[in-house]
Amino acid sequence: MWNKKDLLGIREMSKEEIFTILDTAKEMKIKIDHSDKRDDSLKSESVVTVFFENSTRTKMSFVLAGEYLGAKVVDCLVSASSVNKGETLIDTGINLDQMGTGCIVIRHQMTGAAHLLAKNVKASVINAGDGINEHPTQALLDFFTIYEKLGSFEGLKVAIIGDINHSRVVRSNIFGLKKLGANVVLAGPSTLISSDMKALGADVTTDRREALENADVVMGLRIQLERQKAAAFPDLREYKHFFGIDSEMLKLAKKDVLVMHPQPLNRGVEFTTDVIEGKNSVLNEQVKNGAAVRMAILKLLLGGK
Ligand code: NCD
Repeated sequence: MWNKKDLLGIREMSKEEIFTILDTAKEMKIKIDHSDKRDDSLKSESVVTVFFENSTRTKMSFVLAGEYLGAKVVDCLVSASSVNKGETLIDTGINLDQMGTGCIVIRHQMTGAAHLLAKNVKASVINAGDGINEHPTQALLDFFTIYEKLGSFEGLKVAIIGDINHSRVVRSNIFGLKKLGANVVLAGPSTLISSDMKALGADVTTDRREALENADVVMGLRIQLERQKAAAFPDLREYKHFFGIDSEMLKLAKKDVLVMHPQPLNRGVEFTTDVIEGKNSVLNEQVKNGAAVRMAILKLLLGGK
């Protein structure tokens, strides 16, 4: 059962809602593997993507997810839109509404942008990342991947290592993983982990070994140089020396540990290539699951209209 207009954050979702998406995504994944991926269940619907920040995986998987379900998907290229003439986000949204848009997928550099838009438009709004706040669809594909591989969340140790402060992925993951019964341990340089992460229910350490020890899941996060106002550490080599994970270091985790990363990655910095391509890595599956999860979300939000 689904009765929400929008998908804005994991913080406001119930455990039941999360599982509804994961169950629906399981059906969608079967379709992606099928030679004929398309159906016409959303054939009278339209989806508009509005990305104020760069994206490869998130945007393309929303585009393909909509196409696989028969919806018309259009990208509003922000750099060529009237946003550059000073139009407000709300006015842009109201105009998209008038054209009959069923769903707006938005990524924006400001926290709360998707929430603001959702309050002001009839269309369903999906948050594809708002500043450093949340990235709910990434977290849902991470949950799908963990659930598919490990079968449960209860009591899992999930180590998340990297640029914690600038990551919306980590916040959505903490909100969800705590609801689902997992334990989250965050590790990174002290300049990239603020103590308020503890208030969200995660353990915090500056020792990667402590985070890796006996972990069921190891998630790397990109060092977001573009969001750092001042350098948080001398250089990427320095980061790699103290926080990078190679196959030797990975041995501290459980033998069947899942190695995850939302990507894009700084290859050789968060993880060495042998870890990225090693037997524990599920990075490619995360991407495939991202398409399935986004199909599920579009179907749940638009299917009942
Ligand atoms: C992430 C993002 O944009 O928040 N990427 C993604 O959507 N997979 C992480 C990042 O940019 O490092």
